[in-house]
Amino acid sequence: MSSDLIPTLQQMPKAELHLHIEGSLEPEMIFELARRNGVKLAYSSIEQLRAAYAFTDLQSFLDVYYAGASVLLKEQDFFDMTWAYLLRAKADNVIHVEIFFDPQTHTERGVGMRTVINGLSAALEKGRAELGISSGLIMCFLRHLSEEDALATLVLAMPFRDKLIGVGLDSGEQGNPPEKFARVFAQARALGLHVVAHAGEEGPPAFIRTALDVLEVERIDHGVRCVEDEALVQRLAREKMPLTVCPLSNIKLRVFDKMEQHNLVQLLDAGIKATVNSDDPAYFGGYVNDNFVAAANALPLTRRHAYQLACNSFEAAFLPEAIKAEYIDRLDTFFRTPLTTVPEIG
Ligand code: HPA
Ligand code: ZN
Repeated sequence: MSSDLIPTLQQMPKAELHLHIEGSLEPEMIFELARRNGVKLAYSSIEQLRAAYAFTDLQSFLDVYYAGASVLLKEQDFFDMTWAYLLRAKADNVIHVEIFFDPQTHTERGVGMRTVINGLSAALEKGRAELGISSGLIMCFLRHLSEEDALATLVLAMPFRDKLIGVGLDSGEQGNPPEKFARVFAQARALGLHVVAHAGEEGPPAFIRTALDVLEVERIDHGVRCVEDEALVQRLAREKMPLTVCPLSNIKLRVFDKMEQHNLVQLLDAGIKATVNSDDPAYFGGYVNDNFVAAANALPLTRRHAYQLACNSFEAAFLPEAIKAEYIDRLDTFFRTPLTTVPEIG
């Protein structure tokens, strides 16, 4: 590996497109919000909570993740969580972010849609003004719940339509194929919302196909299991379909045993528009730059791949073409300029 690769990955401007904001809740903030709101947690200490982060699969993670999100009650809580994430994103040179949130996790506890969306949006607004990070909100439906529940959630969100850029689909894939949500995705598209879905993380390549064909998604979240279907790999490359890949998540949830086995470089070399993202950084061992570094330390990632990943993140973003071009110009300038290294002391 060239000695410049890690600082290049860390310093290059990038977009993050697969980030569950509830998955950015650090244990310290979970305990602080529980105290502030008088919520009783099933864990007696930060250490005990962290010890529960030994996941064996997606469901074992989701159980802990939904428990952690139960401390979020007030608009200020959603604001504080999002602001903390934006400060971390800024440190990783993220200049654009598209944030997932799971309203059903909150509305089913009696927290209003207004509370959730206003708290998230206020922090994103402050991020635009004070950190120069552009952003959008993507509302995810929980696929383990019914489509009726998802349709009702879309109706609840309608007063806040202008605060959303799109809808997504997350939670447990097993037994919950994309086609279960055909009607609600059709409605979202008719409203002019962008559409994405998690597919091919734990679920089979067939779920990627139905996400494309039935839900008509514009990006696939994860999608790493596409490599089990060569014709699908070729289709994804031909259609320039972005995949939002999350390397540390895939290791923590045992999609791959070790980072050395991750297929990120294989996907890029097959011509697929892959991007690198953090998914649930508080739970999976790091923010977006930690994902880049972990991948670079285990895989034959080159400077060309680094450029491609950052460029893909802007091309795959739901941004006007002029802004994408401006961001890619910034990336090109970064790659043309010698790295600024921190001088060594002594
Ligand atoms: N997969 C599915 N659902 C999720 C995830 C994930 O990685 N993170 C939060 N909800
Ligand atoms: Zn995810």
